[in-house]
Amino acid sequence: MPADKSIAHRALLLAGMAAGTSRISGRLSGEDVSSTRRCMELLGARTFDEADGVLVVQGTGWEVPTQAALDCGNSGTTMRLLSGALAGRPGTFTLSGDASLSRRPMRRVAEPLRLMGAGIETSGHGLPPLTVRGAALTPISYRLPVPSAQVKSAILLAGMQAEGTTTVTEPASSRDHTERLLGWLGCAVEREEGRVAITGGDQLFRHPGFELEIPGDLSSAAFWLVAAILVPGGRVRIDSVGLNPGRTGVLEVLADMGADLQVSYSTPRPEPVGSVAAAAGPLSAVEIGGPVVPRSVDELPLLALAATQAEGVTVIRDAAELRVKETDRIAVLARGLRTLGAKVEDRPDGMVIEGPTPLSGGVVEAAGDHRMAMTFAVAGLIAREGVTVNGWEAASVSYPQFMSDLREVAR
Ligand code: S3P
Repeated sequence: MPADKSIAHRALLLAGMAAGTSRISGRLSGEDVSSTRRCMELLGARTFDEADGVLVVQGTGWEVPTQAALDCGNSGTTMRLLSGALAGRPGTFTLSGDASLSRRPMRRVAEPLRLMGAGIETSGHGLPPLTVRGAALTPISYRLPVPSAQVKSAILLAGMQAEGTTTVTEPASSRDHTERLLGWLGCAVEREEGRVAITGGDQLFRHPGFELEIPGDLSSAAFWLVAAILVPGGRVRIDSVGLNPGRTGVLEVLADMGADLQVSYSTPRPEPVGSVAAAAGPLSAVEIGGPVVPRSVDELPLLALAATQAEGVTVIRDAAELRVKETDRIAVLARGLRTLGAKVEDRPDGMVIEGPTPLSGGVVEAAGDHRMAMTFAVAGLIAREGVTVNGWEAASVSYPQFMSDLREVAR
């Protein structure tokens, strides 16, 4: 699989903030990760690709130019994490993005960073571009209104630069890659269920550099797991894939639906890694809501597709966040699945899906969203007349090899 996108962003960012030279391995191929790499280069980090697929990053010790215009492309993670990392640097930094990113809410990072003392400007309605005027930061205790690893990470990256202890609590746990990596690199991080605290210090800025092998992306692997489950006779095994507990909600939901899944864990540091195998079989409907939602947030579209083939009525709730992803995923998905013949009703915070309904096929829109493009492509494997996905190239945001892997899987 491509390298885990969430971990890759963080590895590049932290390597660029460290003093020394880091070596990052894994298939770092998606456009989103390239956006973070480009931004870190503009901030003074130097990066080189070695022949063996290793990315070398010479860090800055977080001594950055006092002005920079940073294009984050399609990547919300790049924009939100960088806003926190830059909040404590003297200077003025402008973070912009493509049309999709320019519609995504930034007030959620602007508010806590302002409380810490940074100057943050957004355009009207709290949208990008974001201007960050770095300042000496004061620590805060902040409760996130909705679970978000990006907002939590922005606050922690700023908190690392404040004098004292910054605490973030979440209504439900989100992925913890940032705090895991910061702790691994020697920063003063303390954690308990739903709460993480960081005490300011320059451990990272003096760090001599690290070596990190990034596991495969479970969010990419999930397309093949669901494909194998839905296509009669399907079977797939994916090795060296990340199994961070903040990401494995998709496996729990599929297991609850009765899917034939096997998971094995190998080396756990700093991130859990393992293999996942799936095989075709019948599914039954489930209720998806509460704490599993942030732990499966990027896979909910795919779970909705699986639910069209499950016996009974599946309800997805507590998932209003899907409306502010790369596109309004509830609207685009419900419309697309209905076009293909599924029985789907959209709700403000989710969907109701009645199954099993054989999919006929048709023409659907990816709406510039990589996960929509790939979910509809997997639907094409089971639709009687096939599926045409307009804008399928969006897949390259996280998974440039998606089409060749799809051909391989569909052979
Ligand atoms: C991510 C966090 C999630 C997720 C996104 C990646 C991250 O977003 O949907 O694809 O790497 O931190 P939110 O923080 O908005 O929930």
